[in-house]
Amino acid sequence: MTDTTASTENAAIVGREDLHDIEAILSVVGSDEGEVIRAVKDNADALFTWNYEKGERPALNRLYEKAKTSMWNGETDLDWSIEVDQEAVVVANAAGAGGLGPEMDLAGTPFEKWTEKEWLQVGIESQNWMLSQFMHGEQGALLCTAKIVETVPWIDAKYYAATQVMDEARHVEVFAKYLDTKLSGHYPLNAHLGLLLDDIIEDSRWDMTYLGMQIMVEGLALAAFGFIHQLTTEPLLKQLLRYVMSDEARHVAFGVLSLKEYYAELSDTEMKERQEFAFEAAVRMRDRFLQQEVWARMGLDVKEVLPLVMAAPERAMFQSMLFAKIVPNCKKLGLLDRNDGWLRQKFTELGVIQFEDWADTAEEYEMFALAEGEVASQQA
Ligand SMILES: [Fe+2]
Ligand SMILES: [Fe+2]
Repeated sequence: MTDTTASTENAAIVGREDLHDIEAILSVVGSDEGEVIRAVKDNADALFTWNYEKGERPALNRLYEKAKTSMWNGETDLDWSIEVDQEAVVVANAAGAGGLGPEMDLAGTPFEKWTEKEWLQVGIESQNWMLSQFMHGEQGALLCTAKIVETVPWIDAKYYAATQVMDEARHVEVFAKYLDTKLSGHYPLNAHLGLLLDDIIEDSRWDMTYLGMQIMVEGLALAAFGFIHQLTTEPLLKQLLRYVMSDEARHVAFGVLSLKEYYAELSDTEMKERQEFAFEAAVRMRDRFLQQEVWARMGLDVKEVLPLVMAAPERAMFQSMLFAKIVPNCKKLGLLDRNDGWLRQKFTELGVIQFEDWADTAEEYEMFALAEGEVASQQA
C-alpha cells in the first residue's frame, strides 16, 4: 500500500490524513461541560428470539453461570473507611503527568518554570481526569450492554449480557463514589471517547456494539486497570480495580466468544467494515489518552504541550501497553489478517502490532476470577 492510499483512508475513517496531526486532534472538543444529559440516537432493532434453548452456545452459557456467582457489592465489599491522601498518593506513585516529569530536560518548553507545586497539581488533575474518564466509559458500557440485551439474536448471549448490565452498574457506582469521596474533582467526557461511544451506540448492527465496546473499549480498560492496579500504592483503589478487572475479563471474553462465531461467516466486504471500525476506535482511544483537558486546565497552550507529551518515552510505553489485549483479540477474530492484512498494516502504523501473539482473552478470564474468600458477600 502506498502512503497516499494510507492517508486517504485515514482521512475517510478518522477525519485526518496524518494520525499524529496535533491540530486535527485538538479540533475535536467536548460539548458536555455543564450539561446533565447527552442524547445519542440508537438505530438498532430490538430482537425477540423464540429459541429458548439454554446452553446452545456452551461457552456463553458457562460465562453466564460464572457471572451469576461472581457478583460483589460495591458498598459493602470495599472498605470505604480507608482515608485517601491524594497528594501523598501522587507523590508516592510519581505518576500521572502524562509521562512528563521534572527529571526531564524541559528547558525552553512551557514547563521550564514549573516547580514541585505545579508537578504535584498536574498529577492530581491527571488522576481526577483518568478516573472521570473511567467512570464515563463504564456508563458507556452500561448503555451498550443494555443495548446488546435487546439486539443480539441468541438467548445465551441475552442472558449473559443481562449479568453484564449489573456488573457495569456496579462499576459506574464505585468509580463515581471513589471520585466523589476520595479525589478532588471531576472532568466531563473526553471528546475523543465521546465520538467513539456515539459511533458504537448509533450503529444499527448488533455486532458493532460488541466490537466497539467489548473488544476495543473494554479490552483497553482491562489493560489500563491492570497497569494502574500494579502501580498504585493506594489500597482502596487497588481493591476496587481488582474487583472490576475480574468482571472486565469476562466481558472481553464475552465479546471474543460471540464474535468468533459470527465473524467466521462474514464476507470480505463485511469484514473490511469491521476492520475499519476497529481502527477508528483504536485511534480515538489513543487520542483520548493525550488528556488535552488536563493541560488546558493547567493553563497551558495545549498545542505547544502535545508534541512533548507525544514524545515522552514513558507515555509511549503506557500507550502501547493499552493495546496489549486488543491486538491479540482482534487477531483471534480474524480482523488482523482478512483483506490482505489491512488492520495489521494499520496497527503497525499506530505502533501496537507487537502484541499480536500475546494471550487473547477468550479463556484468560479464569485467571482474573476472584478467589474463594476474596469477597465477603460471595460467601453463602
Ligand atoms: Fe466495566
Ligand atoms: Fe465491562
